[in-house]
Amino acid sequence: MLRPKKLYSKTSIDSTRHNHENEGYMPTSQLVEALNQALSWELRAIAMYAHYSAYVSGIHRLHLSAHFSNEVNESVMHAATVRSAIVKLDGTAITERDPSPIVHTSNYREILEEAYQTEKAAAEIYGGILPLVEELGDSELYDSLEVVYFDEQRSVEELRMMMKE
Ligand SMILES: [Fe+2]
Ligand SMILES: [Fe+2]
Repeated sequence: MLRPKKLYSKTSIDSTRHNHENEGYMPTSQLVEALNQALSWELRAIAMYAHYSAYVSGIHRLHLSAHFSNEVNESVMHAATVRSAIVKLDGTAITERDPSPIVHTSNYREILEEAYQTEKAAAEIYGGILPLVEELGDSELYDSLEVVYFDEQRSVEELRMMMKE
């Protein structure tokens, strides 16, 4: 099984540990910040997939519209998981979506490319979060976020296959 922590060097984690008053306890503020980044990205994904589900046109509309609608639901569930994690850490969950523009198009190829970039970024964000959660030592939190990470990775691979001729 691919463990995302391998993507990140130990030094990048250690450099975030400035709180020596609580030895062995990673500051949760950095984790909450990263989770909020993930949450705002999910909120953007909800808006993006709802838009593309409505606008995708041509011969592929029938199945792609349904597929994007499912992605809306998945993003809503991911957002709920991340929000719960922030609540558990006593943080304040963001309510604004990430401001990265959502390209308006009904061209299915352009849409798939936008979706691909969005899923790649999501996988990267969760890949960065997991080592922080591992550091915290909360296995319940780790397991729930790892599921989301694997969902994003599966979406990246799925979109890559969908774009292949
Ligand atoms: Fe997601
Ligand atoms: Fe996703």
